[in-house]
Amino acid sequence: MDVIEVIKKRYSYRGPYQNTPVPREDLKKILEAGLAAPSGCNKQTTSLIAVDNPELVNSITKLIKKNGFSGQSAPAGICVLTQKIPAYDDKYFYMQDYSAAIENILLAVTALGYASCWIEGQVTEDSETQKQIANMLNIPAEYTVVAFLPIGIPKAEGRRPKYKAFSERAWVNAFGSAT
Ligand SMILES: Cc1cc2nc3c(=O)[nH]c(=O)nc-3n(C[C@H](O)[C@H](O)[C@H](O)COP(=O)(O)O)c2cc1C
Repeated sequence: MDVIEVIKKRYSYRGPYQNTPVPREDLKKILEAGLAAPSGCNKQTTSLIAVDNPELVNSITKLIKKNGFSGQSAPAGICVLTQKIPAYDDKYFYMQDYSAAIENILLAVTALGYASCWIEGQVTEDSETQKQIANMLNIPAEYTVVAFLPIGIPKAEGRRPKYKAFSERAWVNAFGSAT
């Protein structure tokens, strides 16, 4: 798929998934896409854990549902971790780093025919959820769990949200200018 086509095709899927497992080779491609993202001062603050043990995925989904996530459990997912270390002086870019990695992951997921959703709000809703996920996945204390991205083949086409008009958000040469 052409990269522009993949970017336009990506959307947040919260519906049911098929039971079909995600092959490890696809998970590896998705992880590699995430790690290929740029990072501030090349600090590479983002780490990833692919989860394909159904009990673990279900337990994580249960936790985030408790925080209001409306989606279904998937056959696999990626847990996104960050190390909150400075890029230089007191400048921190870890948030930008993991956001870039997540978008790469979501695009790779889409290109491979899967669906996903960037679940961060309902992972970081309370530190208890983050701690519980960290415990489940044996994550050391210097890493923070920031997001979970379910991965699977969707059972049905999800609904795309409404986006604001192009002309309200993107311009040429000057703010508000179409030319
Ligand atoms: C930083 C961030 C946090 C998000 N957290 C959640 C979340 O916790 N739960 C959820 O269902 N969607 C979450 N989303 C997905 C957004 O709701 C979604 O991207 C937005 O509604 C636009 O829809 P689209 O992804 O289909 O284009 C998050 C997205 C971002 C960028």
